[in-house]
This record gives sequence, C-alpha cells and structure tokens, in this order.
Amino acid sequence: MSETMDRNLALELVRVTEAAAMAAARLMGRREKEQADQAAVDAMRHTINAVNMDGVVVIGEGEKDEAPMLYIGERVGNGSPPSVDVAVDPIDGTNLLANGRPGAISVVAIAEQGSLFFTHVVYMQKIAVGPRAKGVIDIEAPVKENLKRIAKAMGRNVEDLTVVILDRPRHEQLVREVKEAGARLKLISDGDVAPGIMAGLEESGIDVLMGIGGAPEAVVTASALKCLGGDMQCKLWPRDDRERQVAKEEGHDLNRVLTIDDLCRGENVFVAVTGITDGELLKGVRYFGSGARTTSLVMRSVSGTVRWVEAKHDFTRLRKVAGPRYEGQKS
Ligand code: FBP
Repeated sequence: MSETMDRNLALELVRVTEAAAMAAARLMGRREKEQADQAAVDAMRHTINAVNMDGVVVIGEGEKDEAPMLYIGERVGNGSPPSVDVAVDPIDGTNLLANGRPGAISVVAIAEQGSLFFTHVVYMQKIAVGPRAKGVIDIEAPVKENLKRIAKAMGRNVEDLTVVILDRPRHEQLVREVKEAGARLKLISDGDVAPGIMAGLEESGIDVLMGIGGAPEAVVTASALKCLGGDMQCKLWPRDDRERQVAKEEGHDLNRVLTIDDLCRGENVFVAVTGITDGELLKGVRYFGSGARTTSLVMRSVSGTVRWVEAKHDFTRLRKVAGPRYEGQKS
C-alpha cells in the first residue's frame, strides 16, 4: 500500500488546510467560535474530498450526531487508493481565533489505515521534543530528570531550555517543578499543537512541550513529530470514572506509556498545517480584496522533507471554479 501513497499527497493536503484557514480567518476576533469552526469544517470537507485517497476520519469533530461533518468514521477523499486514516483539526486554538489572538492553525494528518491511535478519552499527559532529544524522554521520570536528559542530549544547560505548558490550574505542580529545575517557561492560553510542532523544529525557540492537553491534538502532534524526527510520549488522562470506564472498554491500559509509534504507527505519514492567526510557527491569513496569502508547512515522514509553502490565492478566479467558499464569510 505504501507505494501507492504518492508523495504528491502532501501538496494536495496543503490545499485542504489553506482552504480551512482562509474560510475561518475571516471570523478572527468576532467571538463566534461555532461559526468559525463551521466555516473551517465546510471548507476543509469540500477540499478534502478532492484528495486522491480513500480516507476514514479517525480524529475529527466528534461523533456523527453532534458533528454533521468530518465526524469520526466519515469517509473522505475521492475514494481512490491509498486507504488511509485521517486526522483533522480544522482549527486548533478556536479560542485564539475567536479572540483575535496569535497561534490558531489548521491541521490535517494522514497515515496508513489503522495506524493512528484512537480513544474517546478527552485528555492525555504529554511530553514532546525534537530530533536531538529523541530517545531520552521518559514521561514517568521526574520533570527535573527529563529536562536534565533533554538538555544533555541537546548540548545545552537546563536553563537554556524553553518548555511550553498550557496555562491551567491542573499544571500548577508541573510549572513549579519546571521552575525548580531551572528551565524557561512559556505558558500558553490555548493551542498546544503548534508548540509541539515547534519543539520538532531546530532553533524554533521551543524545546519541550509538557502537560495535559487534548488527546486528538496529541495524535496530530505525534504525526507531525514523526515527520520531523522528534519524539513524544503520552499517557491517557481520564477525568473521572466514566472516562476510566471508556478507556477500559476501548481496551486501553491507563498505566501504559504511549510512545510516538503507539500514537502514530504509520511509516508513511503526511501532515499539512496552515496559519490562521499570526503565530510563532506560521503567519496567519492576510486578505487583500481580491485574494489572500497563506503560509503553511507540509511534511512527509518517508523523505523527512519539510516545506514552507507561501501561497497567494486569487478569489476572483477561485470563485469561478469553487464558488465563494474560500473567501470566508464577510460581515
Ligand atoms: P480547540 O481549538 O479544539 O478548542 O482546542 C484547543 C486546545 O487548546 C488544544 O490545543 C489543547 O490540546 C486543548 O484545547 C486543551 O484543552 P483545555 O482547554 O480543555 O485545557
């Protein structure tokens, strides 16, 4: 099957995240999370169905009943081989976009069928690093020990490391431990996929992602880090007995450490990411009357190639072939 996973898929996928980003970015700062989500999902769904693949959404907008589009189990693509698992996050950082803050992105990842981790448990505990620290992390070891090993592997002092953590009350102890270890901290309000990807990029200014965040976002981040040669470990983090039961019924062991290969077993992984609002990883969408500019990253695990794609979109011409959907909803 892998021979049919054409390398052009990467470039097809970037159209999907570009479309979602352009449709959503129009609603920046309007505090209309649902409308923004809907706009991104609509645009993504339209473009993803033109991609040459027989895809099944395994990470999506939720169950079919609550999410009429891009729901888990939905078939996407034009139905031709290869058969793939698809993870979509039309907007990671919906709050960021709704409040006009930096860092909202649109992401799609694909990998061989059956290779992306699936759970209904909402959160995972995560640790993610770049290629230089591959193989040295241990989510069960103390924070200080992890940071010491990461620093050593990167030829730095712990004080030189920047650790990103979601700014949540649940992370008070973790933040204390990172401070005690001496590393620098970047506490973010939302959107842990972009910093996870940045940890995988040399000299991005971010070295480690730690803490508890969304489980779907963990799988998307793991797919990107697989392409970038980075590393990640996670553990399911159930919030209550109901989620503990869910994990059990899914056959997951809550004590098990999920390695990057458990989260994304695929060897042929493609990931595309487009900036919606300006961020440290990517610039956001810029409109200019008759069109827009987007900035994206496209990666492929087999070759390890990472492309930064700057695109100029001409709405006047796109309108003729695809209608107004990419332009976003103007007020
Ligand atoms: P959405 O864009 O889907 O709202 O997710 C944003 C996000 O910040 C993720 O990046 C992160 O993994 C998760 O939510 C954290 O969840 P919570 O806000 O509940 O702590």
